Amino acid sequence: HEADANRTDLMTITRFVLNEQSKYPESRGDFTILLSHILLGCKFVCSAVNKAGLANNLGLAGDTNVQGEEQKKLDVISNEVFVKALISSGRTCLLVSEEIEDAIIVPPALRGKYIVVFDPLDGSSNIDCGVSIGTIFGIYTVKDTANVAVEAALQSGSSLVAAGYCMYGSSCTFVLSTGNGVNGFTLDPSLGEFILTHPNIKIPKKGKLYSVNEGNAKNWDEPTTKYVENCKFPKDGSPPKSLRYIGSMVADIHRTLLYGGIFMYPADMKNPNGKLRLLYEVFPMSYLMEQAGGQAFTGKQRALDVVPEKIHDRSPVFLGSYDEIEQMKELYANSK
Ligand code: AHG
Ligand code: MN
Ligand code: MN
Ligand code: MN
Repeated sequence: HEADANRTDLMTITRFVLNEQSKYPESRGDFTILLSHILLGCKFVCSAVNKAGLANNLGLAGDTNVQGEEQKKLDVISNEVFVKALISSGRTCLLVSEEIEDAIIVPPALRGKYIVVFDPLDGSSNIDCGVSIGTIFGIYTVKDTANVAVEAALQSGSSLVAAGYCMYGSSCTFVLSTGNGVNGFTLDPSLGEFILTHPNIKIPKKGKLYSVNEGNAKNWDEPTTKYVENCKFPKDGSPPKSLRYIGSMVADIHRTLLYGGIFMYPADMKNPNGKLRLLYEVFPMSYLMEQAGGQAFTGKQRALDVVPEKIHDRSPVFLGSYDEIEQMKELYANSK
């Protein structure tokens, strides 16, 4: 039986990516090595999250990051683990982390061609109550590893060569795209290996769910207000949508990818650029959405086409099922 055979013929993430890369004759295994270091970081954070209470890892670290947010202990630990794993891979030249004000330029002896932008721990406010959190990353390449400057990270999302996230939820799930669709892997803790469990993820074309922090509604712009009003009181006779909002982008996006719907973090009167950061939140998730057949829109343009001016720039974002984002685009077009 096929199911029995699969149980002994494990499609680990390394095997999967090696298979994919073998289509490119120029590939020398560098990406696979980089990925294995990212996976090590994810496994470490997963284990730290699972025993957060026991190991006294909960609560505040006592510092504030460049975003003006209080850092949690797990924000700090996760950041350190990823920075060290990425540098020691010998395959990176430039790193951008949510938790570090300046980009890290990797010392020449350890340099490779990849730039990694990452949110080491996403959903910090959910750590202390045991709700799903995650890690988000995007990967670019540089042409010249001899001359690396922070500007090399200011590329539009459309130049990403890979992006993904790991969700520390009821299971530990790693979702990856290298530009060939989206695949999901689940950590088998007894093996310490991520096994392919969600091949070729495609987001449903329409969705029955919407996801937004409605507490900000009084400051929303007109298209966002109209869209959400229509979710609750549809004018075309369709049933109202259900609201789901976790407050961890990774978990909200994971559900949106699998079940369909829309996730939004719009602009508001107080925050004209919304809250989410382009490089390590908006771009990787927009890339995955498009690779899964969905769309990502800022209210003005395709999210992946934005070119950041600074590494911690923010942008409003609407992402999810193809049809839902089409509606959002129409509302913005009509409000001009
Ligand atoms: P982070 O924990 O990395 O700072 O990110 C938090 C983000 C994101 O995970 C989530 O979508 C959003 O903040 C929730 O914001 P609100 O609490 O304003 O809804
Ligand atoms: Mn944060
Ligand atoms: Mn985040
Ligand atoms: Mn974070």
